[in-house]
Amino acid sequence: MALLTIQPSGKTVDVAAGSTLLGAIMAAGESIAHKCDGKAQCGSCHIFIQEGRKTLPRIQKLENEKLDALVGVSSKSRLACQTLMGEEPVTIELLSFV
Ligand code: FES
Repeated sequence: MALLTIQPSGKTVDVAAGSTLLGAIMAAGESIAHKCDGKAQCGSCHIFIQEGRKTLPRIQKLENEKLDALVGVSSKSRLACQTLMGEEPVTIELLSFV
């Protein structure tokens, strides 16, 4: 388990390593779009990783290809449905522009 902090609300939840961030965000009661139900096709679950980015598993091909097609992507960008929690605390930001 590791602590996930969700901005801008500042809510914190303990998340098991290997869980998707999308599932953790929804379980925390936060609102996040997920139009393709986690298949890396819609890009609506785009988030920024503000802290702890390097503790997360690397971006895989499918996620990378989708991120390449999105507007507003930065080095902090991940798809919440494709990102698995690691063993260290992470702070994410839900985006208002997606
Ligand atoms: S839910 Fe569609 S890309 Fe993540």
